[in-house]
Amino acid sequence: MLDPTRNDTQADLSAFWMPFTPNARFKAAPLMIAGAELNHYTLEDGRKVLDGSAALWCVNAGHGRSKIVEAIRSQCETLDFVSCFSNGHEPAFRLASRLAERAPGQLDHVFFANSGSEAVDTAMKIALAYHHARGEAGRFRFVGRERAYHGVGFGGLSVGGLGSNRKQFGPLLPGVCHLPHTHDLERNAFSRGQPQHGVELADRLESIIAVNDASTIAAVIVEPVTGAGGLLPPPVGYLERLREICDRHGLLLIFDEVITGFGRLGSTFASTHFGVTPDMIVCAKGLTNAAVPMGAVIVDDRIHDAIMSAAPAGPELLHGYTYSGHPLACAAALATLDVHQEEGLNDRAKSLAEQLEKQVHGLRGKPHIRDIRNMGVLAAVELEPRPGEVGARGIECRRHALDEGVLIRAAGDILLLSPPLTFTDDDMSVLVSSLGRALDRVA
Ligand SMILES: Cc1ncc(COP(=O)(O)O)c(C=O)c1O
Repeated sequence: MLDPTRNDTQADLSAFWMPFTPNARFKAAPLMIAGAELNHYTLEDGRKVLDGSAALWCVNAGHGRSKIVEAIRSQCETLDFVSCFSNGHEPAFRLASRLAERAPGQLDHVFFANSGSEAVDTAMKIALAYHHARGEAGRFRFVGRERAYHGVGFGGLSVGGLGSNRKQFGPLLPGVCHLPHTHDLERNAFSRGQPQHGVELADRLESIIAVNDASTIAAVIVEPVTGAGGLLPPPVGYLERLREICDRHGLLLIFDEVITGFGRLGSTFASTHFGVTPDMIVCAKGLTNAAVPMGAVIVDDRIHDAIMSAAPAGPELLHGYTYSGHPLACAAALATLDVHQEEGLNDRAKSLAEQLEKQVHGLRGKPHIRDIRNMGVLAAVELEPRPGEVGARGIECRRHALDEGVLIRAAGDILLLSPPLTFTDDDMSVLVSSLGRALDRVA
């Protein structure tokens, strides 16, 4: 029980165990957000600041969009909730069809979850079920990659490649291998878009196959552009090579597009942008513009059909969440797709991407910068860590940027920019110039 002698504010701050947050530090100097409108947040003290991160790579269509709000409200009045376990509702089927239409290749079937983490674990289970259905249950291994972030479920954590996230949680899934990351400052520093060097890093998949035998490997999962691990665009030719090796050995290829989906690279999915079609796409975040939590896995016909035909009676896949296909999430996602279409956000993203590239590389020469990189409407400025205090410069710069009127994210000493696609040209200039002033103040 909370101490009743505490005042209300103290009690409120102590009860909420905040996710991925240094709780003690936050609660000593809380940053409270009171509201949001399009490209700005309003802080509790009334100050308006630019949202340089689209929340957490989520709010691609800007905050508080009335069309999305109205769709959720109206859906709630009509059908607040029905479980999709042996019940259907029209928006879920309509949304699945619209996602399948936009996905590349034969990715024609959609399984709904409630978050990116759940969607990643769902995709991994579908991969296992696919091989099981084809009499290849011995394919149980997954291949992830160093510096990858695939959420916090035991599956996603196992294929993820951020040691700090994994170290508290024991052995995780057995049989997971990791490809090397593609961050190569010596050869690729200050790349614009895809770095030129590193295609050969995909060949490490061949070594993993040689050691474990292809017949034990279910799937390879990568983010087309590594996000939370510090924004690492794929080297030229890298994704193509992964695809080719997977095909040669019967491995499924899963793209985790939780960040890259819904316009970040100027198309609905990064797969289309790169011209590489995976066997499954995992998405979340921008899918509903974050107005209602939702994740989804978009699955190739042949995977779906193999699982369907292996179990003609009963549920073909013993998997699902109470809220899979939640009506409010479906309504939010359908309205989000409408907003993207009506406002041409993919085209807008292309133009913002050009501005972001030009402006963010203009910061070169500011103190402590060791790399600047960008891809679509995503950019990173990487600082030399202060000796003995890794991450301190990142925290400091984020604080200075807030003083300058922009809220950005820092992954250690890497500053990440991913504004909403509704940013104006002026917003983009303000974001980058404010970051520049913040950088000038970092000791
Ligand atoms: C690439 C990627 N996959 C999965 C996730 C997990 O999504 P969620 O936090 O919705 O579970 C994230 C979250 O940032 C992500 O960036």
